[in-house]
Amino acid sequence: MATTLDKTKRHWWQSAVFYQIYPKSFQDTNGDGVGDLPGIISRLDYLADLGIDGIWLSPVCQSPQVDNGYDISDYRAIDPMFGTMEDMETLIREADKRGISIIFDLVLNHSSDQHRWFLEAKKSKDNPYHDYYIWRDGDGTNPPNDMRATFGGPAWTYVPELRQWYFHQFAPQQPDLNWENPAVREELYAMIRYWVDKGIGGFRLDVIDQIGKDPDRKITGNGPRVHEFFQELSREAFIKEGLVSVGEAWGADVERAKRYSAHDGSELSMVFQFEHICLDQTTWEKWDMAPLHLPDLKACMCRWQQGLHGVGWNSLFMNNHDLPRIVSRWGNDTTYRVESAKMLATMLHGMEGTPYIFQGEEIGMTNIRLPLEQYVDVEIHNVYKERTEKGYDPEAVMESIWARGRDNARTPMQWDDSELAGFTTVEPWLPIHDNHTEINVEAALTDPDSIYHYYKKLIQLRKTYSVFRDGAFTLLDPADDKVFAYTRDNEYGHLLVVCNFTDEWLEYELPEEYAQAEVLLTNYREGAPGLRPYEAAMFYYEEERV
Ligand code: GLC
Ligand code: CA
Repeated sequence: MATTLDKTKRHWWQSAVFYQIYPKSFQDTNGDGVGDLPGIISRLDYLADLGIDGIWLSPVCQSPQVDNGYDISDYRAIDPMFGTMEDMETLIREADKRGISIIFDLVLNHSSDQHRWFLEAKKSKDNPYHDYYIWRDGDGTNPPNDMRATFGGPAWTYVPELRQWYFHQFAPQQPDLNWENPAVREELYAMIRYWVDKGIGGFRLDVIDQIGKDPDRKITGNGPRVHEFFQELSREAFIKEGLVSVGEAWGADVERAKRYSAHDGSELSMVFQFEHICLDQTTWEKWDMAPLHLPDLKACMCRWQQGLHGVGWNSLFMNNHDLPRIVSRWGNDTTYRVESAKMLATMLHGMEGTPYIFQGEEIGMTNIRLPLEQYVDVEIHNVYKERTEKGYDPEAVMESIWARGRDNARTPMQWDDSELAGFTTVEPWLPIHDNHTEINVEAALTDPDSIYHYYKKLIQLRKTYSVFRDGAFTLLDPADDKVFAYTRDNEYGHLLVVCNFTDEWLEYELPEEYAQAEVLLTNYREGAPGLRPYEAAMFYYEEERV
């Protein structure tokens, strides 16, 4: 297939901005209350106008939807709920015409329990597919060990007919694939090549650092063979094609990420790491909430910026389909919604890496509060059950769900102020936020000061000034717990990014060398002394030529 993108440069994605679409919630076109592929196609002009280079598309393959498509029962078929293979091909083609690549979401760590492989695997121990999954013998009384699944409950489920337990890091309906078995790996690489041939621009790899697991040693992320598997994956499926690959790696630290995203392309292009995302919690569980201490965020971002500079590559994100809305989390989603959404975007988009925008982030969509029964997410229901059974106060559990639950990100996209927000014509699969009357795309497009237009400018800046791409990062005033300021410097220019993380008017003095600098962007109109609530600005001056 012809491509209009210039991918002759080896790392085209280093100057790209990506946009994540959660298909169920983006745009419905056939009136079943669920977003679909024709809906995405119908909104491509909107995305092209925003200026993005690629769409990370959350899974659209055939799935029983226990975990909204992250439980795949056929990797080579489109779920009828989303449309047909023809729709998918049209999407790839139409996106390509607009210079947009499709980044396909690959779930390689596990399949659905309804996948043909697992249905076969369950039949008998000598079925050829049995060894596609991870089994341990037992009599059904005690699981092989005490490992827990991410969505609650044990990580082992018993199949009495086989007198064996199978391993699953997520829901029981998501059995882990056995990466130790070369036949499994071959099968997956062939499937990836099938999608490459359809013209996609790359992959987002779901929980990919968990493929090297070793359940007997209770190792999930970063297992002993993970680099070997990444290298093989890259050799067999990615490198030849020059595709972008971004791996979701909850367990990644800077040292590991250096290898995962090494410049020689031997493993992946980049990883999603989650250290910054886990700062405002007291345990490894996100439900145990704590306020964000700004110096922690600054130190964390600085470590990643400096650690990967020149050796690897960062992905830059604050939102995705698993995370609460950032403006409700680290900003202020009432009085200063617009200012704080722009401030957070400034903080992130000034950095080195590939930025990812999650649908609705560009209009400042917020968290939602629903009664428990209106939530759909399997994780929300499991945590409510597990915690209330353990004696937690149900009110407090609901508070944590409202703040951290995954459905916050998954409410339908707010296109206009009509009753169903322009998303659908019937009752949607998940409620639409009431605030769509005020927060919606139509309003954002007509207001030149909207968050949308601000994102557009951020994307343009990244494409105009090389300092955004490769400037070295320096953190200013690490201990300041109100202002996040940093500089980026390369041989052509110097960038200063200043962000007020509070709702207070602060005193602030520009570093001397920026006194005459150009203001590239700011979220307030006229300049004023100090920093107003959630004020953010980018200053720039060029290196003098001799
Ligand atoms: C990833 C996905 C999440 C999914 C899980 C299991 O974390 O982002 O949505 O539930 O993997 O596939
Ligand atoms: Ca639909």
